[in-house]
Amino acid sequence: MTRKVTYRCPSNIALVKYWGKKEDGIQIPANASISWSLSDLFAETSVEATESREPELTFLYDNSPKTSFEPKIKDFLSRIAPYSDFVATHSIKLNTVNNFPHGTGIASSAAGFGALALCIADLEGLFQYNTLEFYQRASFFARLGSGSACRSVYAEPAIWGHHDAVGNSSDLYAVPYTGLIHSNLQDWKDCVLIVDDGEKKVSSTAGHALLKNHPYAASRFQQAQKNIENVLQFMQRGDIISFIELVESEALQLHAMMMSSIPYFTLIRPGTLAIIEEIWTFRNDTGLPLGFTLDAGANVHILFPESIETEAMNFINTKLLVYCKNGLYLCSSTGGQPTKIVE
Ligand code: PMV
Repeated sequence: MTRKVTYRCPSNIALVKYWGKKEDGIQIPANASISWSLSDLFAETSVEATESREPELTFLYDNSPKTSFEPKIKDFLSRIAPYSDFVATHSIKLNTVNNFPHGTGIASSAAGFGALALCIADLEGLFQYNTLEFYQRASFFARLGSGSACRSVYAEPAIWGHHDAVGNSSDLYAVPYTGLIHSNLQDWKDCVLIVDDGEKKVSSTAGHALLKNHPYAASRFQQAQKNIENVLQFMQRGDIISFIELVESEALQLHAMMMSSIPYFTLIRPGTLAIIEEIWTFRNDTGLPLGFTLDAGANVHILFPESIETEAMNFINTKLLVYCKNGLYLCSSTGGQPTKIVE
C-alpha cells in the first residue's frame, strides 16, 4: 500500500540561542532556546510511503534527483528508526522544495526537517493530526535531523530545552509557549538581509562541538537559561526596549562564543557590522523599536513590529540595500502554523 502526505513548514529564528550540546544523547541542547517561526520562509515536503521489507529512499529536490542530500536524510531516518517502526517497514519517496532561493545563506534545514518530520508523524499515525501530541512527536523527530528544526512546528513561540521555569519543557522536543503575550510583542516582522550567500566556513555541527572545551561555555549556558526567563517576562509585559536589548545581546553572544572558541572563527562579515551600526543609529535617531538578531552566519535579521513597517522598509531600502548581496533581502511575518497540504 502507498500513502502520500504533504506538509508546509516554516523556518524559525531563535531569540535566545541554542549553541552547544550536552554530551550524552543525540542533539540534546546545553541550554533552552526560544524562537519565532517565519511563516513566509518555508519548505514544502511530500513523502510517499510504500510498505516494504527492504526499504529504499528516493530523494528529490523540486522534482529532480539530488543525491548530495541523500546521506543527510539517510542519517536522519536511521536516527528516528529506534523510535518508530515506520522507517524499517516503508520505502520513502521524498520531494521537497523551499520557497526561498537556494544559496542565500538562509538555513533551510529547520524548515526542511520540520516538514519531513511532520510527514512522518502523520504517516506513522500514532497521534491524531493537529493535536499537541502530534506536534510534539513531529518536533521530537525534527530535533534528530537538526536541533533547531524542532522549534519550527509551532505557530506560537517555541521553547526547546529543559527549563525549570517552563513547566512542560523538554530537551527532547520543543513546546509552544501558550502564556500571555502583550500586544506590543505580537505581529512582528523579520526581514533577513542577505550579506553573504556563500557556504558557511564552519558548519553548525562543528560550531556546537567547539563548546565542549570552550572557556566560557558554563557561564554562557547559565546566561541563556536566565535570558529565557527574562524574555518571557518582557513578552508578557510588552517591554519592547528590554526585549530588543536582550535579543541583540543574544545574537552578539552567539558570535562572541564563535570568536572565543578554540580554534576561533567568525561568520560575521564587514557588512554585518555596518548594518548593526546603522540599526543602532536609526534607533537612536527615531526612537522606533527596530532591532536585529543573527543566525550562525553573516546575514542580519531585522525585527520590528508591523505597526512601523512603512518606516522600517523605508530604512532598509534607503540605508541598508548597499550592504545586501545583489540587493537581496527576504521578509516574513512571525508566527504561523505548519500546514497539511491536501491535494
Ligand atoms: O540546529 P543547528 O544545529 O543548525 O543549530 C543552529 C543554531 C543557531 O541557529 C545558531 C541558533 C538557534 O538556536 O537556532
